[in-house]
Amino acid sequence: MSELFKTVQQSQVSLSVLMLPSHSNFGGKIHGGYLLSLLDQVAFASASKHSGHYCVTASVDVVNFLRPIEVGELVTLKASVNFVGNSSMVIGIRVEAEDIRTGDVKHCNSSYFTMVAKDDAGKKVSVPGLLLRTKDEVRRFLAAAAAIRDREQDKLDKRKLDPASEASKRELANHRVQVALAGA
Ligand SMILES: CC(C)(COP(=O)(O)OP(=O)(O)OC[C@H]1O[C@@H](n2cnc3c(N)ncnc32)[C@H](O)[C@@H]1OP(=O)(O)O)[C@@H](O)C(=O)NCCC(=O)NCCS
Repeated sequence: MSELFKTVQQSQVSLSVLMLPSHSNFGGKIHGGYLLSLLDQVAFASASKHSGHYCVTASVDVVNFLRPIEVGELVTLKASVNFVGNSSMVIGIRVEAEDIRTGDVKHCNSSYFTMVAKDDAGKKVSVPGLLLRTKDEVRRFLAAAAAIRDREQDKLDKRKLDPASEASKRELANHRVQVALAGA
């Protein structure tokens, strides 16, 4: 059987939510945790649409809260599959908040969720390939592949860190830390 490919558009998800006073923190801005929950929901929806299976969140690659979101703003989260591996997918999400009275739109957040498709028994399953139809889609796919490669390299580099090396001592000297190893 030939391999199935799906377009990015087939699994794009957009969710608009009005920010209510019950979503705010003590400073009157929207809770970061509430936004994280919405991000997870759209990532889940997009990954599940692409894969045709329920998915779990494997990791989240940086969530920067660029600007606070106010009560009364209309927040829109746009999610699409940027990259597929075997069972994993990287979902890119852009968050914008609109002041309904003025129509001003601000970019509040961009983040990348890695989701893994699972079957009904909870075993990971292979997902369809991705049919890239625009230069932006190709660019996003390559950026995700590069980020995955960098993360793997970073993991290897960190395993090699030697606490006793001169480089480690120089690094520690730059921070507000005292080293008092037991038995040293
Ligand atoms: C994430 C999870 C599926 C990985 O399962 P695993 O048996 O360790 O599987 P593998 O190491 O073979 O990884 C499976 C895929 O996930 C990817 N993956 C695993 N851990 C990852 C991580 N931390 N970040 C990004 N990708 C990850 C792998 O690269 C692999 O991708 P591929 O199939 O496209 O090549 C598993 O650890 C899990 O189910 N975790 C709990 C998820 C969950 O409950 N989330 C909600 C938290 S409340």
